[in-house]
Amino acid sequence: MSGSNHLSRRDFIKATTGAIGGIITVAVGAPVVAYLIDPALRAGGKEAWISIGKLKDIPINVPTAFSFTRTQVNGWERTGTSFGGYIIRKSEAEDDILVLSSRCTHLGCSVTWHETEKNFVCPCHDARFSAEGTVLDGPPPAPLKQYADKKVDADGNLLILYKEG
Ligand code: FES
Repeated sequence: MSGSNHLSRRDFIKATTGAIGGIITVAVGAPVVAYLIDPALRAGGKEAWISIGKLKDIPINVPTAFSFTRTQVNGWERTGTSFGGYIIRKSEAEDDILVLSSRCTHLGCSVTWHETEKNFVCPCHDARFSAEGTVLDGPPPAPLKQYADKKVDADGNLLILYKEG
């Protein structure tokens, strides 16, 4: 009786070990397969044009938030980093657009647009930036970063040039 119990326990351990091995193989194997079959997944790149919306959908003189994520691959490790900012269309002209990063130049918190005060506010240390991104108040040492390189593609998408660093 106890012998058969012992045996079935051993079988159970064998089966469990096999199952765990299978799970580990799948967990380790999946990224390897993805890495091998899809070079695009390794994308990250130092520079890339990023679409941040249809130009026609962006209102004039209303700072409009956008965000995107970049994936960096270091060996088997993939790290996603989010970026955000505001698009300010000053007129109907395609090139009359200011695109600001929402990353505060003090310690990197995200600023938000305050419509009533008509400025960007950083909640971390109460800094304020003008609608053009210049520092009005608080500790930031520099204006908000601008995405200076931008273009509109044939489909009417507004693209900005992301540069790593
Ligand atoms: S991080 Fe924005 S004011 Fe300090």
